[in-house]
Amino acid sequence: PLRVAALASGRGSNLAALIAARLPVEFVLVGSDKPSAGALDVARQAGIPTVAMQAKDFADRVAFDRALFGAVAEARPDLLVLAGYMRIIDASVVAAWEGRAINIHPSLLPKYRGMHTHRRCLEAGDTEHGASVHFVTAELDGGPVVAQARIAVGPTDTEETLATRLLVEEHTLLPAVVGAIASGRLQWRGLAMFDGKPLEHPLDAA
Ligand code: GAR
Repeated sequence: PLRVAALASGRGSNLAALIAARLPVEFVLVGSDKPSAGALDVARQAGIPTVAMQAKDFADRVAFDRALFGAVAEARPDLLVLAGYMRIIDASVVAAWEGRAINIHPSLLPKYRGMHTHRRCLEAGDTEHGASVHFVTAELDGGPVVAQARIAVGPTDTEETLATRLLVEEHTLLPAVVGAIASGRLQWRGLAMFDGKPLEHPLDAA
């Protein structure tokens, strides 16, 4: 099966949904930049190995990224899922993952890259909001979008109601995309598919 690693900074509800979807994948590692992240508990309860590292323990941002993504590479995932990972990753580190990492972002990209997407949607007076799954590139929230979920925005909505309603949609969106990748229906830049052929691990050379 497709070997999947995930990185998450928060409670891990998207990770939980991904696990609960019972896709034909093997979760090889869940990593976090926050040792107290709920996502690590979700992983432990599912029997998935975990790793947590804190940026403050490293000389600089790049050293931290190299260490965390190095640990991920050692687990030899075919696909890396950023499931609520809240740090900007250095471009030099991201480069090695192009075509084999996806991110879920709470906006209808290309709208509202970065933080505070619900607030920005409300401030703009948008009548719809959504979440996007995209392949990760060096450009923050800028890689090719592969799937989106939409919700209507009403006059009484707040950041909190939007976040809550959107999360429900995210929980089917992310498993749908991972399922499509696992079955070989979706790829970008030669992500090694589980199609009966051996999966490639170009990171082994790094
Ligand atoms: C999700 O809403 C996800 O889209 C968002 O963080 C939340 C994580 O929730 N991701 C980003 O904002 C990425 N920049 P979860 O920990 O319950 O899955």
